Parts: sequence; structure tokens; C-alpha cells
Amino acid sequence: MADAALRVGIVTVSDRASRGEYDDLSGPAVQAALTTLLVSEWMPVVECVPDDRARIEQTLVRLADDEQCHLVVTTGGTGPAPRDVTPEATAAVCDRLLPGFGEAMRAASLERVPTAMLSRQTAGRRGVCLMVNLPGKPTAAAECLAVVMPAIAHFVALLGGPQVELSQPTVAPHD
Ligand code: MTE
Repeated sequence: MADAALRVGIVTVSDRASRGEYDDLSGPAVQAALTTLLVSEWMPVVECVPDDRARIEQTLVRLADDEQCHLVVTTGGTGPAPRDVTPEATAAVCDRLLPGFGEAMRAASLERVPTAMLSRQTAGRRGVCLMVNLPGKPTAAAECLAVVMPAIAHFVALLGGPQVELSQPTVAPHD
């Protein structure tokens, strides 16, 4: 029988936040957004890592395989700067990519800011775990999460995870 609670890894990817040079605001913003978006029970597993591809990959693998997260969301490291490697790390540990997530988030973000096209956000599946990249800016991360939440709920249902009930009713996937 599936677990009752959705296990959600929240990974902040930031050199400076991981060194304690400033407070991580993005991880807590994602956690607050999930609290608003999810009615059903869920449990966060929180991590903060530097923009280091190996460290990001290790963290994603541990959250999926050892912590048995149904969903892992990252925040940060999706831009075009040399140290932005979150999409590469995500793609490297996934067995299937789900490019529609990045496309949908960029399309929604472009309605607000023209620089959204600088985001290289992606998503993919590692076994039954869905991994989704969100931008690093706290407001942008929360906005993007709201856009993909119905698809996340449907993914979890398709892969046999716990029941995910959303606060915002959505149209049925086959409508
Ligand atoms: N998406 C939204 N909704 N709002 C934003 O302000 N900023 C963009 C983009 N996506 C932005 C956004 C910018 S300027 C960049 S560089 C990329 O996200 C990547 O940000 P990251 O490297 O912090 O992940």
C-alpha cells in the first residue's frame, strides 16, 4: 500500500547560502508554497548544497533512493552563469526527462518577465521520483511551482504514490 504522506525533497542550490553567507530564502519559500498548494499530508526533507554538480547529483540520488521522496524540487542554479549546473545534474540522475515542465514554467514566467527565457529549468523521473527544477528567486520559485503542481499530482498518481490533494481544483487530465 502507498505511504500516506507525500515525501518532498526541497534542495536549495546556492554557493553563498550553503556557506552561510546569507540566509536561504528560496527553500523556505518553496516550503511555504507547498503548504498553500497541498491539502493532503506531506513531509519535507530539506537540503542546501553549493553549485557543484557532483554534490547536487549525490543529494538528488540520496533523496530519491534513500529518503524515498516522491518529489524532489530544486531551487537555483538554472541560469546561464558558469556555475549554474542544476539542470545538468538533474538530467544526469534521471532515467527519463520530462521537458514539458520546463517549457510550461518558462511560458508562464515569460508572461511576467522577459528574462525568464534565461532559465534552463528541466524535470525528469528517477524511478518513481519526480525531480523538478525551479528558479532561484523565491517569488519565481513559488510561481513556477504553482504552474506545475497539477502535473506533479498526476505524475504521483500514475506512478502509484500517495494521494495528492490540491487546494486549487484543476480540470481532469483527460478533459
Ligand atoms: N522566472 C520568473 N517567474 N521570474 C523571474 O524573475 N528570473 C529569470 C529566470 N526565471 C525569473 C524567472 C532569470 S533572470 C534567470 S537567470 C533564471 O530564471 C535562472 O535563475 P536561477 O539561476 O536562480 O535558477
